[in-house]
Amino acid sequence: MAILLAGLCLSGPAFAKHAKEHQEGPGICPQPRQTVTAPDEFLQLKNPLTATPQNVLAGQTLFQVDAKPSPCRLCHGISGDGLGIMFHQVQPKPRNFTCYQTMGDLPDGQLFWIIKNGSPGTAMPSFNYLEDDQVWQLILYLRSFSKKE
Ligand code: HEC
Repeated sequence: MAILLAGLCLSGPAFAKHAKEHQEGPGICPQPRQTVTAPDEFLQLKNPLTATPQNVLAGQTLFQVDAKPSPCRLCHGISGDGLGIMFHQVQPKPRNFTCYQTMGDLPDGQLFWIIKNGSPGTAMPSFNYLEDDQVWQLILYLRSFSKKE
């Protein structure tokens, strides 16, 4: 499956653009962040799912291919570094999920709320149509990009 996904994404002009962007650097880290803080009842939420291969793969499939209006990779990048093909067109910049300095302090419930609601005034869309479990699967995948240093 991973090979299939990579084959799908790493072809044609999109890949040429990605390759170019990766030459610009490893992604912005630490990253300036002015995102609105989620309401308390969300901040307290804990991910009810565990990082089984099935859950992480479901998150990966949404992130790389299936999410609507656009898959997360267009902005957040195939490798989660925030350098997707839309990187140059949006301000503020997409979150770099590989950056533990920025991601490590953000509670699961904060990520959940932003994915459901979007971040108003930025390019981050609302993915309100997703089931709660799909959002939690996405978060398991996002967390897999940043490891504590
Ligand atoms: C069209 C571009 C775009 C797409 C598509 C997109 N994002 Fe984002 N995302 C952004 C931008 C820009 C930000 C930064 C928002 C800000 O600074 O408040 C962001 C921020 C985030 C954050 C950080 C929240 C925080 O509190 O710091 C999360 C989590 C996130 N996106 C998840 C996702 C997921 C999951 C998907 C796919 C289901 C997705 N994004 C798709 C542009 C996008």
